[in-house]
Amino acid sequence: MSTIMSQLHLDHLNLSRLLEVLKDKLVSLKEGERPDYQLILDVVTYIVDYADAHHHPLEDQIYDYATQQYPSSKQALLEVEAEHKLIRDNTREFQQLIESILMDSVVSMDVFNQRLEDFIRQQYDHLNQEEGTVFPLLEKLMQDKDWLNLQVKLQTREDPLFGDNVAEEYKRLYKSLIQQEAVA
Ligand SMILES: [Fe+2]
Ligand SMILES: [Fe+2]
Repeated sequence: MSTIMSQLHLDHLNLSRLLEVLKDKLVSLKEGERPDYQLILDVVTYIVDYADAHHHPLEDQIYDYATQQYPSSKQALLEVEAEHKLIRDNTREFQQLIESILMDSVVSMDVFNQRLEDFIRQQYDHLNQEEGTVFPLLEKLMQDKDWLNLQVKLQTREDPLFGDNVAEEYKRLYKSLIQQEAVA
């Protein structure tokens, strides 16, 4: 497997760990526990900063390349690219909602739980679509020369949460992930 695809798979694995944490939170919220809005905001902010700002644009470049080289893949790839835009807008809106709650806006628990549930589902559906359909399609179509062509164009960026160095703004989140045994 190409280095690029390995990195994207790893990103998916890390994202799914965060989604698992949110899923656990959702269960306890539904049981009446007080929400840890700061933790949820930290997770969503990471998704805005890394998944939406780096992981998805990287995928878009690969999908654009693949649709040009292998037009049969066009429909499947355009679909997931369109989802990137929807996900980005939705994640920003959700981030703003949590920020407003932390600044004392009143949002009912039912409304919040529903937003959280929809957010988790949208993220998972996208991950599953890529892992189940899109990535296997790329693996089938793309040749070594394609990955080499792409490698020189793509920008790499260290993951600010799961990379070797945890960025200052994610230290609090990293600590709670350790406490919840979501990272080793
Ligand atoms: Fe994606
Ligand atoms: Fe992805």
